[in-house]
Amino acid sequence: MHTYHKLIWSDSRNMSAVTDESVDLVITSPPYPMIEMWDSVFSQLNPKVSEALARNQGDQAFELMHQELDKVWHESFRVLREGGFACINIGDATRTIGHRFQLYSNHSRILTSFKKIGFDTLPVIIWRKQTNAPNKFMGSGMLPAGAYVTLEHEYILIFRKGTKRIFQKPEEKLIRQRSSFFWEERNKWFSDVWFDLKGVSQGIKLNGARDRSAAFPFELAYRLINMYSVQSDMVLDPFMGTGTTILAAMASCRNSIGIEIDASFGEYIVRSAINSVKDINRKISQRFSDHFDFVDEYQTKKSPLGYVNKHYKFPVMTRQEIELNIPYISSITYNDEKQFCVVYSENPIIRVIEGNTIENSMEIKRTPKQHRLALV
Ligand SMILES: C[S@@+](CC[C@H](N)C(=O)[O-])C[C@H]1O[C@@H](n2cnc3c(N)ncnc32)[C@H](O)[C@@H]1O
Repeated sequence: MHTYHKLIWSDSRNMSAVTDESVDLVITSPPYPMIEMWDSVFSQLNPKVSEALARNQGDQAFELMHQELDKVWHESFRVLREGGFACINIGDATRTIGHRFQLYSNHSRILTSFKKIGFDTLPVIIWRKQTNAPNKFMGSGMLPAGAYVTLEHEYILIFRKGTKRIFQKPEEKLIRQRSSFFWEERNKWFSDVWFDLKGVSQGIKLNGARDRSAAFPFELAYRLINMYSVQSDMVLDPFMGTGTTILAAMASCRNSIGIEIDASFGEYIVRSAINSVKDINRKISQRFSDHFDFVDEYQTKKSPLGYVNKHYKFPVMTRQEIELNIPYISSITYNDEKQFCVVYSENPIIRVIEGNTIENSMEIKRTPKQHRLALV
């Protein structure tokens, strides 16, 4: 099995390189309007932004910035197939402009825009990003009434284009079943507050310039891809940045396209993707390992699980997990056509063996008593 991943260095307000209705899932995080680090980017997209900021017209600058993002949302609608999803990670902004401190509610502006374009809005996820920084509170300290609550969350807005996706043919049904996730993952991933995702340390310096990666965590993209698409689908990130979505698509057996205006990310993305085989496989092993911990605990405290996965022969909670299959990556290469080719191991690389010996379990550290894993 192969997947392909294409990097496009251009302005995603015009995605003419991507054909109509060719994408199954859009996952992205745009530059955040009214967060100072993005002022120059928005001012390049529309010089009126810097003029509005210079005149202390915060509301107008906010609206002008969103009008530029709207163009990308329109393009996203065009390239998505009927039944496809868009997941947008966005945070609100607080800012003092001309002595007026205000909230600039990016998430509500984007929700309104998507609705106008024709998307259906689905329940959102709050990504809780707690900070312990001593200076996290703003305003007048202990004195009423000019202190402000701290923003310690971001949003993942979720939209669908048109009606529910239909999996009609037997092979479509099978690929959907193979793309299933564990019951216990469902319980965590589909709750509306995510507490357990840490922000990414902004370590990349590009050409000595100020760090502008603002990357989201790998886990955020990985979960959303597994929640809203199936293996072999096409995932698009129109604000690719450091390529987190591309890596998560590779890890999930999906194809992907990343579009980024700043080509100085290129070298970093190619290097990190090619070197990520081991990390991705470790992440996959961790899912198995977590599942085994769950099985162990559940069977000890409650009762044996009712089903057995066909590929790995381990217990699972529901019938829907019988075909679940998470291929490991064999290789990632970058070719002359500026795309990555990812090859997956055809057969499950792990097998469950009975008994107490753990054979060559390089990747999986913790295993429950009943089920031992061996890399084969
Ligand atoms: C919030 S960052 C995305 C970070 C990304 N999710 C990651 O994990 O690295 C937004 C990115 O959008 C890019 N960008 C801004 N305007 C753009 C445009 N019109 N077209 C394409 N990319 C753009 C910026 O250069 C920046 O890398």
